[in-house]
Formats: sequence, structure tokens, C-alpha cells
Amino acid sequence: MIFVNSPDSWGRMLNRMEKIDLILKREEKLSEIFIGFGLIQFLVDDLKERPLGNRLGIITDTRVENLVGYRLHQQLTRAGIRADVIVIKPGEASKRWETVSRVFGELFEKGFDRKSGLIALGGGVVGDVTGFVASLYMRSIPCAQVPTTLLAQVDSSLGGKNGIDLSHGKNLLGTIYQPRRVYVDPSILESLSEDEFRNGLAEVVKSAVVRSRELFQLLEDCHDAISERQPKVLEEMVSRCCRIKSHVVMADENDTGFRRILNFGHTVGHAVEAYTNYRVPHGVAVSIGMAVETILSTRMGALSHEDNKRIINLLRRYDLPTRIPRGYDTEKILGLMVSDKKAEDGRIAIVLPTTIGDAVVRKAVPDESIREAFREVQA
Ligand SMILES: NC(=O)c1ccc[n+]([C@@H]2O[C@H](COP(=O)([O-])OP(=O)(O)OC[C@H]3O[C@@H](n4cnc5c(N)ncnc54)[C@H](O)[C@@H]3O)[C@@H](O)[C@H]2O)c1
Repeated sequence: MIFVNSPDSWGRMLNRMEKIDLILKREEKLSEIFIGFGLIQFLVDDLKERPLGNRLGIITDTRVENLVGYRLHQQLTRAGIRADVIVIKPGEASKRWETVSRVFGELFEKGFDRKSGLIALGGGVVGDVTGFVASLYMRSIPCAQVPTTLLAQVDSSLGGKNGIDLSHGKNLLGTIYQPRRVYVDPSILESLSEDEFRNGLAEVVKSAVVRSRELFQLLEDCHDAISERQPKVLEEMVSRCCRIKSHVVMADENDTGFRRILNFGHTVGHAVEAYTNYRVPHGVAVSIGMAVETILSTRMGALSHEDNKRIINLLRRYDLPTRIPRGYDTEKILGLMVSDKKAEDGRIAIVLPTTIGDAVVRKAVPDESIREAFREVQA
């Protein structure tokens, strides 16, 4: 733990900050994760003291630029750090080749070279685009993540996975490239819409179910404080998620085994997203997926009825759906699960919680068991 006391640009006092080091087997790869309220002044000071590059490209979207990008740019400039802002449109539609190609071109025209650095300031879309660009530009340049959505703070900014979409599907092009630093400031979440906050909460519940009974308990005990986004509990929740993600990534950076437990709810969730042509938000789809996979686990004798009930109840308390809407064709959803890239040899691999705080990846789950679970959650 590091304790810092300095006024910050959001008008608050930064009085406590946590630091997590994500150390991978090859020692040169290290992500430092800083978590604390009102982190922006620390971020500027840190970048001044330990430059990420001879100049910085802040990649952000138009909404986040208005919220915090402009101020961050101003403060970096005032601190004598040369920085340019590169803006993309908000939303998933930006995660495509045309966007990264434009960003590559803009970096080159502005004179960014292999000694430059990038900062991703935004949600998962900005984070993925920036990580992708940083991993390839001039055979890779350093990058830092400053996540501004709950989903990005607890999940997508950590672990180095990034991806862009093809017309054939989501995240089909990508690299694994660790950010040097991740600056997580939960105070930025104040302006997030209820829907985006709920989206992120689905990933928080996921982390709790597969890795942390304590986090699950926190979600149960502090429902009102979390829903009201009270600073102390928000910081505690985000910080626990960052620890979980770091531990899992340290154990399996390349997502070949253990890291797959973070896909809890995602095998079904991705199929629901694809089935609805991505009209259903990610968090909602993952929540339905967690409900199906929880029920499946109990049906297969891996999870107690009591834990099953607690998981379903927690999702409901956070207004996350646990039923497949009427009219959805579950046979089609099953078909999409088989064709998803996580299906190995056409057999479906699913993460099954075994207790609150632990889970296993089960390969070759019989279609009939999945059908039965679908029937149980159909509205
Ligand atoms: N790389 C990974 O490991 C990983 C993991 C999970 C998800 N993802 C990817 O993340 C993406 C989704 O990320 P997301 O949910 O953050 O969505 P997003 O990046 O599209 O952001 C959602 C919306 O919130 C706005 N926003 C961002 N910060 C805000 C703030 N502080 N206040 C108000 N509005 C704000 C954005 O402008 C945008 O309109 C998907 O493309 C998904 O594939 C990646």
C-alpha cells in the first residue's frame, strides 16, 4: 500500500492508494496497477517522473474526451509533458480495422516514433483499440490504461488482451500485450449511466463467483452502498476485482487454461449477444449466461442448491436478468455456442461454479444438459 496526500484535479483529496504489481514469468513484462480515488494528479506526476515515452498519444472517445480527456491533456501539458489527443467515436462500432488504420496514420503523421507512448483513456472499446495499436505500431510502443467504465476498471484494462471485430464476429483480430501501467480511479465512474454501471457489475459478480467468497459477501452486504456508488465501497470492490484478475492473469497470461474461468457466463452470454445481433448489452447477456451456467452446474451435481440460490438472488438484486426472454430460440443459441471460438472440436466448454469462490472449466458438456438448463431459465 502507498499513502499519498495531495489535492487532485477533481477537487477531492487523494488520501489512499493501492498498488498491485502484475508480474509475469518473463520479468520484463510488468504491469503496475494503481487504484485510488482522485488519481489524476498522481498519474500526471508519475508520468513526469517516469515517462512512458518521449511524447504521449492519449486515445479516447468523444464522450470521455469531454468528461476528462480535455482536463488530462491540459494537466499533462502544464506539467511539461508533450501530449496529443486522438479521438475515436464511442461504441463498439469503433472496434474495427478502419479505426485502427486511421489511428496508425494519425500517429505517423504527427511524428510518433518507437520511443513514444500511448494512453488509453476510456472504456473497453478505447482500451482494446489502444492496446491493439500499441502492440503493433513501430513493432510495439509502451502503453498505459486509464479505464473509465466499471467494466474496464474491473476487467478489460487488465491482462493485456485486446481485440477488434471483423464483420464475421467480435474480437477476431487481436494481440496479447501488457500495459506498462494501469491507473484505476473509481471516482471517474460517477458520470457513468445506470446501464453501463450494471454492465460492469455483471463482470464483478462473475469475478466473485469464480474466485472470491469475500467479494461475493461484500456484494450481498453492501448492495445499497454499491448501487449508490459510495466511494469507499466502490474502491474496495474495484480493488478486489483488480486483485482477482491480476492473480488469474499471472497464472495464465495466454489464456490457455486457468484464465478461462473468467469466461463464466460468457459461453452462453456470447451466443445470446450474437443471437440478438448485439442489441442486448454485454452485461445483460453475461448475466443470463451466468444464470444458465449456474443452473447447469447444479444439475450436473457440481454446485449446491444453496449456492445456486445465492448466485441467482444476487444477480436479481442488482437488477441483472436471470431468465431467457420469451420468444428466444434456444436451439439457435445452442448452435451459436458450438460455433463460438471457445468450442473445441465442436464440443462446448463451459465454466461451472463449484462453490461460491471457485469454478472449473468443463469440456464436452452434453447438449441435452444445456437444453435442460435453458428450459429452466426460459421466461
Ligand atoms: N480486452 C479485454 O480483456 C476485454 C474484456 C471484456 C470486454 N472487452 C471489450 O470491452 C468493450 C466494452 O467496454 P465498455 O463496456 O467499457 O464499453 P465502451 O468502451 O463502449 O463504453 C461504454 C460507453 O460509456 C461511455 N463512457 C466511458 N467512460 C465513461 C464515464 N466515466 N462516464 C460516462 N460515460 C462513459 C463511452 O463513451 C461509451 O459510450 C467490448 O468491446 C468488449 O469486447 C475487452
